[in-house]
Amino acid sequence: MDHSSLSSSPNLRRVWDLPTRLFHWVLVLLMIGMVITGNIGGEMLQWHARMGYALLGTLVFRLIWGFVGGHWSRFVHFFPTPARVAAYVQGRHRPGHNPLGALSIFAVLVLLGMQLASGMMATDDISFNGPLNAMVSEDWADAATDWHKHLGKLLLLGWVVLHVLAIVWHKRKGHRLLPAMLHGDAQIANIYPESKDNWGRRLFALVLWLACMGLAFAYLLPLTV
Ligand code: HEM
Ligand code: HEM
Repeated sequence: MDHSSLSSSPNLRRVWDLPTRLFHWVLVLLMIGMVITGNIGGEMLQWHARMGYALLGTLVFRLIWGFVGGHWSRFVHFFPTPARVAAYVQGRHRPGHNPLGALSIFAVLVLLGMQLASGMMATDDISFNGPLNAMVSEDWADAATDWHKHLGKLLLLGWVVLHVLAIVWHKRKGHRLLPAMLHGDAQIANIYPESKDNWGRRLFALVLWLACMGLAFAYLLPLTV
């Protein structure tokens, strides 16, 4: 099927392919689950860990999709080069993430990676140890647990607040970013290509995501106590 026929209106063209949109909303759901289960602690940490492995698989999928995904989902197409920053400052907007948004996305990918890694080395000092806890020294495990429960958590939650405020600010300025993250389409000038989003690519993304999830669970679940 031709990807353009999947667009919801002839005036709008595809910017976020379905895999990128699903990545975003699955990430949001998992984050909500992680905050709830992490705060309850105890038995819930088993679910916290499982959701963490799902988040890891989903994140690795997005990193790969950043190279092979739809045009506007690729890192090379939104990396904030000096030329793109200059164009943006002069009011020449390209489709996809703007340079500041792109920086913020790279920052959250790093923060999420650090939260995952520190969680895996962490312990609740009662009955739950992350899968990497036994492989690191006690000092490392303590530092990781501390990061995970304090600064790492605060930076991530602070990022989410700023992220939502940025979306609201853009809306007030007349840039409606949310609809594109929901249905995939935005007004794109004809000089720019649109993201391919046909069922073949969606199936490819599904297989890739399942492979990432499968590997994350296969390696980490047996190590979780
Ligand atoms: C991005 C992914 C993750 C997020 C957002 C997250 C978030 C949280 C939060 C909000 C807490 C509660 C901190 C507090 O006490 O205030 C927590 C605790 C904890 N998390 Fe995570 N976590 C993530 C991944 C993981 C992973 C992958 C593991 C291990 C497999 C893990 C293990 C733990 C442990 C051991 C605690 C301490 C519980 C306690 O001492 O009661 N986390 N996490
Ligand atoms: C746990 C909370 C959240 C996290 C971790 C998160 C993370 C992200 C990430 C990583 C991206 C980049 C997407 C990509 O290229 O793959 C993104 C974009 C976006 N997010 Fe979120 N997000 C969260 C919550 C929300 C919420 C609640 C909204 C709704 C207001 C939202 C709206 C958007 C929009 C509209 C974009 C596209 C921005 C643009 O056009 O440049 N996000 N988010």
